[in-house]
Amino acid sequence: MFSVSKTYPSQITALSDIYIEVTAGEFVFIAGPSGSGKSSLLRILFGAEKPSSGEVIVNGIRLTHPSFKKVYQLRRTMGIVSPDFKLLRDRNVRENIAFALEVTGHPPKKIREKVSETLRQVGLQEREKDSILSLSAGEQQRVAIARALVKESSLILADEPMGILDDEMTGKVMEIFSELHQKGTTIVLATQDGHLIQRHPHRVIPLMAGKRGNAESNEGGRAEE
Ligand SMILES: Nc1ncnc2c1ncn2[C@@H]1O[C@H](COP(=O)(O)OP(=O)(O)O)[C@@H](O)[C@H]1O
Ligand SMILES: [Mg+2]
Repeated sequence: MFSVSKTYPSQITALSDIYIEVTAGEFVFIAGPSGSGKSSLLRILFGAEKPSSGEVIVNGIRLTHPSFKKVYQLRRTMGIVSPDFKLLRDRNVRENIAFALEVTGHPPKKIREKVSETLRQVGLQEREKDSILSLSAGEQQRVAIARALVKESSLILADEPMGILDDEMTGKVMEIFSELHQKGTTIVLATQDGHLIQRHPHRVIPLMAGKRGNAESNEGGRAEE
């Protein structure tokens, strides 16, 4: 993503002249307080929002004036956890996760196996037949995370994925993300949780009121991969 700006029609400038480059295989935190532009940035990266100016290239796809087809093509290649992507309320837990694979035409047996494995990863194997509405907010969030994981994408974009999870579950999900990262998955994770960042030595891209902050590296961590 290069020199991107985003001004909403309300004249709020959510991002001004942001330059960000994420290399394949990196784990990057987008860090900043509420309102700093984290969600706007991620929404541009998965094509939910067009940049007002600048150039955006994700997985080789230019998103500066994205067509519907391009956005669709792009989203198939990424796992997304975002408040923009709601769970399907009329489907149960397993069906919500399976849906991510059905749309890309995976064979049913493969879908069943992969969904079972992902349910175990997020500790929801016992809830697979339950309606989404019967889950707590934290459990619903785990379904949303599972839905992003099940696709085994090479890129995961996650917007405050642990915001409502308890410490134990946050630790588990970070473990899953770290394992994926070690296997080569690129992870871009937006968070306002300074403690989470401190515990995980990955590159930090700080956002302050839509601008790049100063501190680049994570204290005690690696500045660059
Ligand atoms: N759809 C929108 N329309 C108008 N303004 C928006 C919209 N989304 C976000 N904003 C504004 O852009 C700024 C950045 O918001 P956001 O990207 O959601 O930050 P964060 O995710 O870091 O909390 C805020 O001032 C917010 O009010
Ligand atoms: Mg946000």
